[in-house]
Amino acid sequence: MATAVYPGSFDPVTLGHMDIIERTAQMMDHVIIGVLHNNSKTPLFSVEERVKMLEEITSHLDNVEVRFFHGLLVDFVHECHADVIVRGLRAITDFEYELQMAQTNRVMAPDIDTIFLTTNLRYSYLSSTTVKEIAFFHGKLEAFLHPEVARRVEEKVKKLKNH
Ligand code: PNS
Repeated sequence: MATAVYPGSFDPVTLGHMDIIERTAQMMDHVIIGVLHNNSKTPLFSVEERVKMLEEITSHLDNVEVRFFHGLLVDFVHECHADVIVRGLRAITDFEYELQMAQTNRVMAPDIDTIFLTTNLRYSYLSSTTVKEIAFFHGKLEAFLHPEVARRVEEKVKKLKNH
């Protein structure tokens, strides 16, 4: 039984993330999406909101579950009794950061490997940061986000602007 952890901030989850989740779910017996709860950053969505959105849009995938984690990713992976970490690579610009992270994690936990999936070319330009910027300027989000996530982002931005 192979279990993978797919970690990230998912603020918000994009169609690029979704593509990685669906492909990982086909390859692995069990996939745990690990949503980082990072107190030092101020995300657009709380960790509870991010977990809920991910649960909703992955509900059709029987072998996928969503959890949040604090602290070190390798500790979370051990807690989950998972075998590998999965990360998406969009472009060469991601590689240096991803390699550094994978090597650091491997030194801390030699029993855990990181595997990389190349992002679908359709989403190779996409990032949560860009999506948030588009949302703040009222751009259309349907090409980037699941409709339910797009609705929540628009709602959140509206709320923030009214404060
Ligand atoms: O979606 P992101 O922001 O690119 O995901 C980054 C994430 C959550 C995978 C990374 O920041 C992480 O693993 N954070 C947990 C802290 C940790 O383990 N740090 C050491 C690894 S270098």
